[in-house]
Amino acid sequence: MGFMRTLADIRGLKFPDEFVVRHFFKRGLAARTGRVLELGSGTGNNLSLYAQYGWNLTGLDYDQSALDDARWNLGEGATFIQADLAKGLPALSGKFDALIVPNLLCYLTLAQAKAVLTGLKPYLASGCEVFVRTRLIDDYRYGRGEMEEPDGFRLATPETGEAGLFNLFYTQAGLVGLLAETVGLTAREEFAVRFDNVQAGRRVPGNSDLVVWGLAS
Ligand SMILES: C[S@@+](CC[C@H](N)C(=O)[O-])C[C@H]1O[C@@H](n2cnc3c(N)ncnc32)[C@H](O)[C@@H]1O
Repeated sequence: MGFMRTLADIRGLKFPDEFVVRHFFKRGLAARTGRVLELGSGTGNNLSLYAQYGWNLTGLDYDQSALDDARWNLGEGATFIQADLAKGLPALSGKFDALIVPNLLCYLTLAQAKAVLTGLKPYLASGCEVFVRTRLIDDYRYGRGEMEEPDGFRLATPETGEAGLFNLFYTQAGLVGLLAETVGLTAREEFAVRFDNVQAGRRVPGNSDLVVWGLAS
């Protein structure tokens, strides 16, 4: 088992995304190990699951304080890369056996998302497990801000903590098509995730995400 903090000592989010957990167990990732890369790894809440099953961890984020917390949470064995994916994919090394992109793609324009995912292809082992979760066009935030590109808005939603951030909303077919085109996704499964939330003490109804997982070809 990898380096572990007690729950009370973990900085930032305490638990992995529920669908990252489902993907991990339903795809049998608890019964093998390998190298996992997370884009937008934040404080390491998702990588902590892989850590507990002995995977080799690489996290990438543009937020240095989140990366510092991730280092505290996950210990010296993990690799963390600070990079702004809006500027492209930084240099990576070797091949990954799992790629997880939970709750990150919405912050990139379509051109940026295409550049990042296309750039990743040479780093994905054949049959690499791929997991993506992002927002759909029927999400509460859609249209709440200035439109900057089709289905892309500069959000004016302080209630979600995202005022001033760019958000791109996908159609189900658009996201699946993007993953097919860039990483050659096969053996695909899709899950609609709809939920209401409370953020900063205010109700945020009508969150709508799509989870897509499959294998890189
Ligand atoms: C909503 S959080 C998701 C954290 C974690 N992946 C999860 O699912 O719980 C989005 C993360 O993506 C990072 N992020 C957003 N835009 C980014 C960019 N352009 N380049 C790199 N990281 C980015 C943020 O700093 C944040 O840690």
